Amino acid sequence: MKRRSGSLQEFFASPMSLSIPLPDPPVRRVASAGRDSPRLRRLWLSDRPAVRAFFLRLDPETRASRFMAAVNDRMAASYAERATVMSGMVIGAFVDGELRAVGELRPFGSGQAGGRRAEVALTVERGFRRAGLGSMLLRRLAEAARNRGIAELRLRCLSHNVAMRRLVTGLGAELRLDDGESEGAIPLARATPLSLWREGIETALDFHLAVATLPLPPPLVRAA
Ligand SMILES: CC(C)(COP(=O)(O)OP(=O)(O)OC[C@H]1O[C@@H](n2cnc3c(N)ncnc32)[C@H](O)[C@@H]1OP(=O)(O)O)[C@@H](O)C(=O)NCCC(=O)NCCS
Repeated sequence: MKRRSGSLQEFFASPMSLSIPLPDPPVRRVASAGRDSPRLRRLWLSDRPAVRAFFLRLDPETRASRFMAAVNDRMAASYAERATVMSGMVIGAFVDGELRAVGELRPFGSGQAGGRRAEVALTVERGFRRAGLGSMLLRRLAEAARNRGIAELRLRCLSHNVAMRRLVTGLGAELRLDDGESEGAIPLARATPLSLWREGIETALDFHLAVATLPLPPPLVRAA
């Protein structure tokens, strides 16, 4: 699988200083042999079976990292059922046609101040990490958020979640440690005609891709 280039900084209002020294654990790169470039697109209600299968495939540790709590199969399935219809937006990354990573943008709080903030959650399946999927999803979600007038992206993870902390601080976000959790905020740049145009094109493409992957209806049976 090829790693896409492109700076995330483009979306963010201003770089901030790192506040936490991070460890540097050894990590294994995802093997690229035989894998197509990932396709990112918005997930719709029609993707519910793939989203359900994705969350059910996740191991307990990944689920705990994503939801910051232990999540059994029943809870994972129930969340997946609602994920694409809850407020916000869900983007999926498909590798060789299979959903392997999910990024979620959820409105944060309520009222005028709350409406300008959104929370982001990322989940990349094991075996598909360190290939840029998390960063690509964050880039797509950041663009969608800025185009909707959101001024700040919030990210939360467990404080021992080195991968997420690194990803986020690598973008210049500041992380605050609080009672076993890390919380970060990324200020977003204002929308531009280019960012709106780019999202418009991507949305049109997303729709076509989603329709193309719908199962074909059964053939009409000729009346006797
Ligand atoms: C956190 C997570 C989304 C990262 O996804 P990913 O696709 O592996 O991330 P990327 O490949 O885009 O990595 C971007 C950068 O983040 C950092 N990073 C990612 N994983 C890391 C790890 N295991 N250790 C150290 N740094 C890591 C690196 O700086 C990396 O850049 P590099 O590969 O050029 O060094 C993924 O590990 C995951 O799904 N974890 C379980 C769910 C979770 O914790 N979600 C966060 C809470 S919502």
